[in-house]
Amino acid sequence: MTRAVGVGLLGLGTVGSAVARAMGERGEGLSASAGRDLRLVRAAVRDASKTRDLPVEVTANAFDVLDDPDVDVVVEVIGGHRPAIDLHLAAFERGKHVVTANKEVVAKEWRALHEAARGAKRELRFEAAVAAAVPVVAAARALGAARVRTIRGLLNGTTTYICSRMEAGASFDDALREAQAAGYAEADPSADVDGWDPAYKLSILISLAEGRWHDPAAVSRTSLRGVTTAAMNDAAGRGMRIRYIATAEFGQKGTTARVAPEEVEAASLEGQATGPTNVVRFDTDLAGVLTFMGPGAGGDATASAILGDVIQIARGMR
Ligand code: NAP
Ligand code: HSE
Repeated sequence: MTRAVGVGLLGLGTVGSAVARAMGERGEGLSASAGRDLRLVRAAVRDASKTRDLPVEVTANAFDVLDDPDVDVVVEVIGGHRPAIDLHLAAFERGKHVVTANKEVVAKEWRALHEAARGAKRELRFEAAVAAAVPVVAAARALGAARVRTIRGLLNGTTTYICSRMEAGASFDDALREAQAAGYAEADPSADVDGWDPAYKLSILISLAEGRWHDPAAVSRTSLRGVTTAAMNDAAGRGMRIRYIATAEFGQKGTTARVAPEEVEAASLEGQATGPTNVVRFDTDLAGVLTFMGPGAGGDATASAILGDVIQIARGMR
């Protein structure tokens, strides 16, 4: 009989706990989709003494997961640069596949991670790292033959949430607190409001479109913090809304990329977006304009993309 594909989780926060719950609740469906049984083997966290009502054995030592011979796929949802990069590399050294929602480590360590995966003959998958449930990583890969002229849209749910709540009268601080409570914001929310998070995501999409690493430090960032309710009301009076827009322009002389608050038509997809909705438009020569929209943050939406990646890996395993 074929052995089950073992999944080891690094992180059991908003995203990791949603992955654990989904694996517990829909095991049969996931296994049917993968063509193999999928088994959640164990999970590593920072504080193993926290009470968690989740169907998984917990350890405070990430190497208990990495060294477990029953773990075939490591799902890293700790976030941040370190220790995430060391754990990814250690996973490949041990012959594991890696799935992650961590855009920071993928954007910053693009070359090292792809090299390590190639060297280990294992997969590195990160659909969840950009726009969560919206399959824009797959879309960017599928556009290999077309020349992408621009990528533009909303790549951060927290800032869209804040803008839409400020339009409804909330203060910036209250709106940010609500986004944190809903599990949309990063552990350090300055990653959202100062643009690091969408800059990492945009650099991943650019890297996929160009077939080579685009340094996220080259994405220019303007913080959302300077945007006032007065500016929002003024925009509204002209049929406009303020949204935190990510733009990449692929020109003859190079690629420029920025994330910044901008005015958009109130009636546009971006203007209508509230909460964690992401919008991504690829303008291409062969394929015209492709527009993607959907939940770009939140535990379940992110777990959906992660488990999609796990299923793809399991389907490819002999
Ligand atoms: P989170 O709620 O802050 O959870 C982080 C988890 O990692 C916690 O369980 C924490 O343990 C654990 N952890 C932290 N440091 C660790 C270490 N050194 N060793 C082992 N475990 C450690 O974060 P999240 O919102 O789930 O986000 C996780 C990743 O997914 C991030 O890269 C984020 O950008 C990405 N992402 C998030 C969303 C979203 O909507 N939240 C959507 C898409 C992508 P404790 O529980 O013990 O503290
Ligand atoms: N903090 C991120 C956001 C999570 O608000 O979009 C999804 O990547």
